Amino acid sequence: RLTGDGASSDIRHIVLDFGQAAFPVLEGQTIGILPPGTDAQGRPHHPRLYSVASPREGERPRYNNLALTVKRVTEDHDGHPVHGVASNYLCDLAKGDRVNVIGPYGTSFLMPNHPGANLLMVCTGTGSAPMRAMTERRRRRIPLKEGGTLMLFFGARAPEELPYFGPLMKLPKDFIDINFAFSRVPGQPKQYVQDLIRARHDAVWRQLNAADCYIYLCGLKGMEKGVDEAFRDVCRQHGGDWEALLPQLRETSRYHIETY
Ligand code: A2P
Repeated sequence: RLTGDGASSDIRHIVLDFGQAAFPVLEGQTIGILPPGTDAQGRPHHPRLYSVASPREGERPRYNNLALTVKRVTEDHDGHPVHGVASNYLCDLAKGDRVNVIGPYGTSFLMPNHPGANLLMVCTGTGSAPMRAMTERRRRRIPLKEGGTLMLFFGARAPEELPYFGPLMKLPKDFIDINFAFSRVPGQPKQYVQDLIRARHDAVWRQLNAADCYIYLCGLKGMEKGVDEAFRDVCRQHGGDWEALLPQLRETSRYHIETY
């Protein structure tokens, strides 16, 4: 369990061991989970997709495994109670249980291959999974001194609701520039990732214009519009034009969105 005891959400870090089966994945890809059993009509459940949260060589190098970040779904976006079939199945797994997996999927939400590329990552909640994979890939390659900066905007209700808060806090400041936005900390103003993007406009403007910067958004659908507006404001503030910049970023595969 990644979220604190008093947290309102139950987020788990789940490691799947593939044993002798070859199952190569890249950071940013997703895999499908097939929950066992059938629905109320007796049909098999649909597969659900989850982002891989570990880098390509696995959660633990030289072991054939990978990690997922799974939030137990107990309510829909409007707060009505629902039972998330796949997420509850995954969160309730016991060590050693066998899981049916398909995939991997994803050909675009991938990190650049060349050393020196900058990553600008924006996520909320479990949207942090691919960011963890990419960050961890870079962390393991620090000794190679390949260069490239990492900047992260991460939104969560509160620190105890933020998956990987502890490990993130331990990363060196010169390795990754982390900006946490907390929306439900008593006595503190509500902050979203887009507020922090505006607050860090100088650094964000530099990244938006760096030929070697790749941008990733993952998390709640609602964040998409807010972040787009924040980038537009940053550009305007610096005499730039987001409407002109965005198509350039898209054409060169430097703007990636995965929201749900
Ligand atoms: P909020 O407190 O308003 O729900 P969740 O915990 O539901 O996965 O959400 C992760 C974080 O994303 C929360 O801090 C949540 O704030 C925030 N959030 C919700 N809607 C948006 C949005 N439209 N743009 C950015 N962040 C959002």
